Amino acid sequence: MLERKVDFLVVGSGIAGLSFALKAASVGKVLIITKSNEDESNTKYAQGGVAVVTDQADSFENHIQDTLIAGDGLCNPQIVENVIKEGPDRIAELIAYGTSFDREESGEYDLAKEGGHSAHRILHYKDITGYEIERALLAKVHENPNIEILTHYFAVDIITQHHLGKHVDKKSTDIECYGAYALNTHTHQVEKILSKITLMATGGAGHVYSSTTNPTIATGDGIAMVYRAKGKVRNMEFIQFHPTSLYNPSEYPAFLISEAVRGYGGILRRANGESFMEEYDPRGSLAPRDIVARAIDTEMKKSGLDYVYLDITHRSKEELLAHFPNIYEKCLSIGLDMTKDYIPVTPAAHYLCGGIMVNEYGASSIKNLYACGECSSTGLHGANRLASNSLLEAAVYAHRIFLDASSKIGSISYQENIPDWDDSNTQLMNEDILVTHNLRETQKVMSDYVGIVRSDFRLERAMRRLGLLYEETESFYKNTKLSVKLCELRNVIQVAYLVVKSAMSRKESRGLHYTTDYPNHADILTDTIL
Ligand code: FAD
Ligand code: SIN
Repeated sequence: MLERKVDFLVVGSGIAGLSFALKAASVGKVLIITKSNEDESNTKYAQGGVAVVTDQADSFENHIQDTLIAGDGLCNPQIVENVIKEGPDRIAELIAYGTSFDREESGEYDLAKEGGHSAHRILHYKDITGYEIERALLAKVHENPNIEILTHYFAVDIITQHHLGKHVDKKSTDIECYGAYALNTHTHQVEKILSKITLMATGGAGHVYSSTTNPTIATGDGIAMVYRAKGKVRNMEFIQFHPTSLYNPSEYPAFLISEAVRGYGGILRRANGESFMEEYDPRGSLAPRDIVARAIDTEMKKSGLDYVYLDITHRSKEELLAHFPNIYEKCLSIGLDMTKDYIPVTPAAHYLCGGIMVNEYGASSIKNLYACGECSSTGLHGANRLASNSLLEAAVYAHRIFLDASSKIGSISYQENIPDWDDSNTQLMNEDILVTHNLRETQKVMSDYVGIVRSDFRLERAMRRLGLLYEETESFYKNTKLSVKLCELRNVIQVAYLVVKSAMSRKESRGLHYTTDYPNHADILTDTIL
């Protein structure tokens, strides 16, 4: 079995993994493994931009307050302050790496606005900000001789004492990470990668649901791996549904219509043309996402339609082409001219606010294992993420993790005697349909019972069905040679279980978790830790 040894193993090549790798390379050798093409990530599809205070008329205090309000009481105020105050330095680094953000003719940044923000503060590159960030980071990574990147390598599990045959108790505080087993999809062999420090930067889990804005890589792998290794995960019930994905039933994943369109004056309307958001919130179409998504869900249930409309026809073609060329082209490709037609939109799973529980330096509950970006739960987002705060969080935490990890790496040695991956007594899978079917069933269960509006009854139904899917898939996994699809299915079911279990334990409605059985806030604020 092939064995590699690296100072830093980074799993994932989105903004979190690449930003950390560029820093870590100043103190050691870095290996990035990523399961698809190097740029395939949620990062690449980010549209609206990065929320950061750059304008004299804005203030850290305003951005902090907006984040806390959106988070509905569950943000960690110290973490919010850290991220927002450190944001400008981290974004300056992204710019120094070669990222462009749009500027006005005056030379000032062209700042956009999104839901829940009290000021124009979103730096963006047209409506393809993530593509631009990913491009710049990858270019920098390629220049760096201390960074190797292996594409189409799928991290299967992290290596801990469990793999040395030792009993690892869930309550144990001394679980250590020694690296990861990864499936090289070119050779179909599982390789052993030993590392001193491992960073989980595997992104979100949109594909736990049937309708999502996330690319197909978003299957919650990092969270499932850490939970299997008995690490802690937090606040998994808070799934953010973006209010406005393009309604186009034949398309999977769903195309996003950026919130920046509403920030630019877009109005949500019923089929008869009436604007409705004012009936739900004084902030109208620019209320925080949890409120807008729930309002749209209510409107769709009332009308029996699978969508509402977004109207931006009062803006000129020149303005829309300058700000939203990608969205304009996409709409045109399905016969919609957004300068003249209302855009049909519907909510879709978009962002996971919870994840691997980390401290203020991104360290997980497992020694020498850090988590950064969407797979982590830092305390920034609380019960509902403020729009465009996640690229910011990843950039800030990549730096914080670097500070902590680089101070520790000198005292860490490689763990020897790690066994090879054992796939004796397993057979090649000859029917993909078993996996595909169970994936679709899991996604349907989650969309039908664990969506925007929940209840005890629905959650219990979901849990029973997931139990069956889990048993079937685990037995299949034990007897079958590894494939990416099978591992992803296993991870999706694992994450779905974590979402439902967390949702069942929250006996209140807060932020993105709304249940008809407990429609109000509870008196005591709690995180859900599993
Ligand atoms: P990702 O960018 O998703 O990267 C994860 C990486 O891990 C990928 O390279 C993936 O292939 C790899 N990976 C996953 N599992 C494995 C495995 N088992 N083995 C090996 N590799 C693995 N946020 C904002 O702040 N502003 C926005 O404007 C914005 N717009 C968005 C628009 C869309 C359509 C979407 C989907 C999200 C948007 N978000 C936005 C959210 C934001 O893009 C993501 O939260 C952020 O990019 C996550 O970065 P990341 O590095 O944590 O994960
Ligand atoms: C968007 O452009 O609407 C997405 C912004 C985000 O998810 O932060």
